[in-house]
Amino acid sequence: MELKNKIAVVTGANKGIGHECVQQLLEKGAIVFGICRSGCSHSHPNYTCLKADVRNLEGLSAAFQQVLDQHGKIDVLINNAGLGYFGHCDELPIEQWHEMFDTNVTGLFYATRLALPSMKQQGAGHIVNISSIAGLEGYQQVSAYCATKFAVRGFSDALYKEVRDFGVKVTCVYPGSVKTDFFRHSENITAHDNMLMPEDVANQIVYCLESPPNFHNVNLEIRPLKPRG
Ligand SMILES: NC(=O)c1ccc[n+]([C@@H]2O[C@H](COP(=O)([O-])OP(=O)(O)OC[C@H]3O[C@@H](n4cnc5c(N)ncnc54)[C@H](OP(=O)(O)O)[C@@H]3O)[C@@H](O)[C@H]2O)c1
Repeated sequence: MELKNKIAVVTGANKGIGHECVQQLLEKGAIVFGICRSGCSHSHPNYTCLKADVRNLEGLSAAFQQVLDQHGKIDVLINNAGLGYFGHCDELPIEQWHEMFDTNVTGLFYATRLALPSMKQQGAGHIVNISSIAGLEGYQQVSAYCATKFAVRGFSDALYKEVRDFGVKVTCVYPGSVKTDFFRHSENITAHDNMLMPEDVANQIVYCLESPPNFHNVNLEIRPLKPRG
């Protein structure tokens, strides 16, 4: 897809991988809407920050409606908003389980549902879902987060088969550890320079978005070459 003047929506746009995706989409000439529940980290004539929490269907619907009212379509959706809590299964607070599922899975489903009709109608579009290598294999003390990211993988795999005949691509991305604020809830892991860089992950996402019409990157697994240096 040629990204110039395309309408893109990125959830969780104010930092980390989402921030970098917005930055690179803007550099490609796209018109970008960021869904942020807190702070706005971009200032660009082609950028609009829409305040919404992906867990809240009413607020999220209003945000997507604003995009559709202004432009009549959505070409790209990057389902990036997400968070992780870690710890032993029997010690993980129940509310953290729900917060992760409500954000990482239900929020992603809501946003997809809001963007899909426009994509199907125009016979084109690209949805990028950010899973994790924790959606490919289990890690001890990461059971609940892994469950959310396996759910994203299953959802994405089913969805791509459902919507490809409508001309809509679905790419599921599985990054290893990325140097962002993501690890703020982890007692054992601190972000460091041997992790993936968020701008490099965003670069690969943009590369997938720019693929030719009849070319579909279904799954993108990305890991640091030397995670321990
Ligand atoms: N960093 C990693 O190692 C890694 C690896 C694999 C996959 N991932 C995935 O990559 C995605 C981005 O993570 P990141 O590393 O960039 O972490 P990050 O720096 O913590 O950014 C997460 C973004 O999601 C937003 N967000 C969280 N809950 C939200 C909600 N309910 N509604 C709207 N926005 C919400 C955050 O907004 P606030 O500022 O308001 O919290 C923030 O903008 C996540 O889905 C994460 O699971 C990360």
